[in-house]
Parts: sequence; C-alpha cells; structure tokens
Amino acid sequence: MKNILIIHGPNLGLLGEREKEIYGEMTLSQINGMIEERARELNFKIKIKQSNSEGEIVSLIGEERKWMDALIINPAAYTHTSLAIREAIVSVKVPAIEVHLSNIYKREEFRHKSLIAGVCIGQICGFGVESYLLALEAVNKVLR
Ligand code: DQA
Repeated sequence: MKNILIIHGPNLGLLGEREKEIYGEMTLSQINGMIEERARELNFKIKIKQSNSEGEIVSLIGEERKWMDALIINPAAYTHTSLAIREAIVSVKVPAIEVHLSNIYKREEFRHKSLIAGVCIGQICGFGVESYLLALEAVNKVLR
C-alpha cells in the first residue's frame, strides 16, 4: 500500500464560504471526504493536512519524507511566492503533484507564475475538487 500526503495551503480551510464563484460551494471537509473515498478505491493510505503557515508546510514535508511515497499539494497563495516550499519538495526527493481548484492561468497575472510547478511531476488546475481526484489518478500512474 502506498502512502500519500495531501497538503492544503492557506485559506483553504475557508472553502465553502470563500469566493464561492471561483472555488465553489464545497467545504474542505466535503472535499476531503471525496479524496478519502477515491484514495480507498485506489488502495492508498493518506494523510490530509491544512495549514495557513508556510513554515508549518515546510516542516510537514520534511517530517513526512520517510512516510510518504508521493505528495499532492495545493500550496494556495504560497504557490506564487514560496521558495521555501519549493526547496522542501526538492530536498525530500518525493514525487509531487501541484493542484489548484481554479485555473490560475485564467486569473490575475500574479497567479500565472508558480514557484512550485517546476519541481513537481506536473500540475493539475481548473477542475475544482476533481483536480485533487485527478491528482490521485496521476499518482496511481506514476507509482505503479
Ligand atoms: C488556489 C489558487 C491560488 O492562486 C490561490 O491563492 C488560492 C487557491 C486554487 O486552488 O485555485 O488560495 O490554489
């Protein structure tokens, strides 16, 4: 059984209330329920964490490096700013997939740049909650 760590970055705990026209009506716990269900079908063991803190996300990636076989991360606003999260991913040498609910390339120009995508296997964005489920399918292909 493969172990997958899923990290939700800052402000994603407010999904369901936050900018619903962009991110939809589902709460993070509903989204997590769907992720858990698909992970079960794919026979993955998962841990899901949400953090608003860049340092906490960096620490988490380091702490879970031996446990996880792959990382799925929605770095949220840190996507566009965080060299520290980028370097954490490089340091642990675990295959990573970047996920976004919205299509960041259709939005403001400051969202078009990801500091994270270049150190991931790939990026999935624009499919709402399905982005996370597609990331699980991608992990399934990469690890098997
Ligand atoms: C996001 C896109 C980011 O630009 C934004 O800062 C978020 C959410 C997404 O999932 O679409 O917080 O990562």
